[in-house]
This record gives sequence, C-alpha cells and structure tokens, in this order.
Amino acid sequence: MCGIVGYIGHRQAAEVILHGLSQVEYRGYDSAGMAVSDGRGMRIIKDVGKLRDIHAKHNFLSLEGGIGLGHTRWSTHGPPCERNAHPHYDCSKKVAVVHNGIIENSRALKAELEKKGHKFTSDTDTEIVAHLIEEELKGKKSSSDSILSAVRSSISRLEGAYALGILVSGEPRLFLARRHAPLIIGKGKKEEMFFASDMAALLGYTRDFVLLNEGDLAALDAKGMQIWSADGSPAVRSPLHVDWTPQMAQKMGHDYFMLKEILEQPLTLAAAVSADVADGVKLLAGAKRPAVVACGTSYYAGLVLQYLLHRQKRTASAYLGSEYASWHTGAEDVVVAISQSGETADTLSAVRLAKKEGAKVLAITNVVGSTLSREADATLYISVGPEVGVVATKTFTGQLAVIYKLAYSLSSNKKGLEELAAMPSQVQQMLDEVHEPVHHLAKLMSKRKNFFFISRGIGWPCALEAALKLKEITYLHAEAYAAGELKHGPISMLEDKVPVIAIAPSGALAPKMESNMRECHARGASIIVLSDDKTILSEGEHSLAMPKVSEDFVPLFYILPLQLLAYYMTIELGRDPDQPRNLAKSVTVE
Ligand code: G6P
Repeated sequence: MCGIVGYIGHRQAAEVILHGLSQVEYRGYDSAGMAVSDGRGMRIIKDVGKLRDIHAKHNFLSLEGGIGLGHTRWSTHGPPCERNAHPHYDCSKKVAVVHNGIIENSRALKAELEKKGHKFTSDTDTEIVAHLIEEELKGKKSSSDSILSAVRSSISRLEGAYALGILVSGEPRLFLARRHAPLIIGKGKKEEMFFASDMAALLGYTRDFVLLNEGDLAALDAKGMQIWSADGSPAVRSPLHVDWTPQMAQKMGHDYFMLKEILEQPLTLAAAVSADVADGVKLLAGAKRPAVVACGTSYYAGLVLQYLLHRQKRTASAYLGSEYASWHTGAEDVVVAISQSGETADTLSAVRLAKKEGAKVLAITNVVGSTLSREADATLYISVGPEVGVVATKTFTGQLAVIYKLAYSLSSNKKGLEELAAMPSQVQQMLDEVHEPVHHLAKLMSKRKNFFFISRGIGWPCALEAALKLKEITYLHAEAYAAGELKHGPISMLEDKVPVIAIAPSGALAPKMESNMRECHARGASIIVLSDDKTILSEGEHSLAMPKVSEDFVPLFYILPLQLLAYYMTIELGRDPDQPRNLAKSVTVE
C-alpha cells in the first residue's frame, strides 16, 4: 500500500525520491507528494493521481535541496485528493510528515489540538503528527535538541500503527519512527542516507540496510544515523546486506511484470525448492496443535499445508489472519504464518495473539528483514526475488514449494522430495506446452461475465486461487467451489454458456469430478476442463491437456495455466494486470 522514501545527502533529494517512489508504485496508490529542504526552507508538491502525471503537472525536480521525503498514498482516512495527499504539514508549514499505518487516537488528539487553535487542512490521521510537533515546539528556542524532544514526545502520544518520516524546516536531520509498519534505513556509499517502507525503493542506490525495531525512533544525517529504542535509550541495530538487484525488479522485455513473473516460475521454483527447512522441521516435529495463519493467496497456500499435515495425521487448522482472533483456542503451540510480504497487518496481529498465548511462530515469507520474519521464532524464505505485480504469482508457487519441502522433510518422504526437486524442469515443459492454447482460450473467455472454478481435495485451494486471480485483475465475477458443493446451492446460477473451469486430474477423485462436470453440463454450462486424462478431457467444451503429476502437486501445476488465463483475459479487456484498481501489494492495515 502506501510507499515512503526519504533521502539526505549530496544528490538532489527530489530525484532520488521520485525514482524510489516509482519503484514502489506497484504497491498501489492514488496520490503522491514530496517535501524537500535545502537546509533553510522547505517546499512541498503533492496531488492526486499517478506520479508521472503529478510530475508532468508540477515538476517534482523543481524542488531543490539535499534533504527530503516523499509518499505514495493509498487512501484510508478521507478520499484521494490533493489536500489528503502526503506530506502533511502544521499551521506554519514548517513540519512535513509522511506516514503509513493508522493512528487510532487521531480523533481525540485532533480535538485537543483544535482547542489550542490548530487549523487542519486534511481529513487524514497523519496531519495531527505535524501539529503535535508544532505544539511541542511552541515557545521553545528552535535547536536540534528541542526538535528531537518535540518529535519524541509527539510520537509517544500516538496509538496505532505508524511508519513515519518527519522533515522540519531548517533542521539538518530527518526523523523516522516505526511501530507495526515497515520502515528501513539504507546506507549510501559516501555521505548519504536513505529510508523507505520497502527495500525495492532503494535497490538502485544501496543494498545495505538497517532495520528498525518496533517502537524505534531514528535521526538521519548524511553521515549516519542515531537510533533510540521505545524506552528512549540509544540503540544499535544490526546491518543487513541483501542480494536482490535492481534488475530483478525490471520487466526484462515483457509488457507487464505479471507475465514476466509467471514465466520465470521454473527459475524461482528452483530457488524455493532449495530452501533450508531444518528450523521449520524442528518446530513442527514437536508440535501437538499446529495452526496456519495467512491472508489472500497466502491463505490458499496455507490450505495446502493444512492438507499435507492432515495426511500425516497432524491436526492442523488453517485460519484467515483476520479471523484468527475469533477461532483460536489458545492451545495452538506452533503457528505457521505465511505471507509473501511479511507485512500483512491481519497476519501479524494473529501472530502476536498466538505468541502472547505462548505459541512459537514459524514464518514463511519472501522478504528478508520483514516484520513477520523478525517477530517469528524461525523463518523459511521462499527466495523468489522481488514480485512487482500486485497479484501474487511466483510467490504463491514459491510458498507451495517450501510447504512441500517442509511437509515431506517432516515425514521423511524421500519420494516426495525427489519429485519436488524435479518440479522446476517439469513446470518449464508444461508452461511451454500450455502457453499458446491458454492465450487462445483467454480470447474466447474474455467475452464472458461470470465464472465458476471447481475441484476436489487438494485441487480445491487451487480453484480458490484461480478464481481470486481472475477477479483481482479482470474485475469479472468468479467463484470457486469444492465441486461437490455446487449442487447444494450455486448450481442454481448455472445457465446457458456460463463457464465452469474444472481442475480435474486423474486419480481417486476423478469419477466424482466427472459427475459434477456432467451436472453442470446438463444445466447448459460451458465446461473448460484441465486434466491429464483423455477421457476426462473429452467431457469439456474446451480442454487443456496437463502432464501427469502426483496428487499433492496439483495446486502447484494447475495454477500456472490459470494464472496465464487471468493475465491474457485482462490484456484482452484492456486492463492493467500489474496495478489492479483498489488493491495493494501488502496491506498494512487491519
Ligand atoms: C494483499 C494482496 C494479495 C495477497 C494478500 C496477502 O491483499 O493484494 O495478493 O495475497 O495481501 O499478502 P501477504 O503479503 O501476506 O502474502
């Protein structure tokens, strides 16, 4: 969701910030802005719309100076418009603030500040931070010490979640603070420092980072940083070097990141299957009541883990992060939290609740240094490189690969591990075979308005994910059902030519799947079948031949053509698959 970038050093801050923000555009936003200081005065440009349009209209690069911060906003408090865009400022326009998260006591603070005469210009919760600092500075001689103490005491009054960047006119330092929202510091090579909500924003400048802890406050100047922990004591945070390169976040000749990320899955799977899962095995081996928590696509990967653990007679329940609080029993001893970003607020709050009740947490994520990885007792990285398309593709299959490896290592399933190791090349072969037929199918399907996806057993999470992909980027109506459930209600919606996409591999569940497909066909539905079996394929009006794989691997294999289908339908419909409306890459609010 919102992106933050800050810079202090010898370059023009506006240039760095504009580039950094453009690297995190994929997170989704509706307005943007930046504040730059030349050490004496500060200027702000902000507006609603995309960065390039705001730049064309106002020219961000006209903001001169080496100290600055910028923001891309995904609206929570107040509609997208110029006055609600960040940075926000105080009455005197001397304090500029950018913020991700939600300040929960903003109403009370606003009322208090209004009584003291402060005038607010936006509907946001963020603006109160600038006025709080202004209020703290009232009557005090402006000095580095008084500014630091005003920033510190203002932040101590905030409840809720925040990643904050603060720029005070005339002050040669930038301030930042985080609580329940990601914020990292980047170290430049010579006399320059950066900060951002996402490493991807800074990869063009540095791969050396320092991660702030919960509740930390930091001050940056060009030469370095000072950090204080939540209790106000000076703190040192360990540095982190990452291998991600800026090239990994390029389109590499493809029209969209989503297509690049779908097609690179043989490579990313190879990285994911070589994950070291020893820490996960250790945690799960002794677990009596394991649980799985995740959101969105990651939840569907979680359902696959639930399935695999059940097959080993380990009772594990998968919960949506946002629902965990209503369902937990307190008896869960290990919670496996799956999140590509490692920043999803709903998943993190489930993790915190489980930890409070004594559970150990095993994280599965893509992002080194993410909040989830830092709060977990052990982390398994899927290592698929930055995923820029908003919707999850390679991170989903990367999660599945690590999940298979974890489950098979846990049960010493050598055959499964061998099959998993062969997956990347099999996936490559399959992608080569299905690519064109799927492209053709997408042209036909993009004329339809409603879709059903059906499967059984471990194929069901794949149907759920395929329907989610389709609705996320085409904005068409799609529903997924365990095939046996159709007759208990949704079958009433089937009428002439409604596409029912059946994930129907051969095996024990195939005969029942065939009956379900016939039920749909009898109501006039148009069956699109994916299977490795000729007879099953012949049941469909359209069919896609798949290679034969062990039942466990059905979600990993069958999701790929369905990701491609969603992608090409979106292109046919003239929509943007990389930045779908209303969606954000990582959702840091509950
Ligand atoms: C957002 C994204 C989804 C993602 C979900 C969970 O809603 O748009 O694509 O599946 O968050 O994200 P996570 O980072 O926790 O996997």
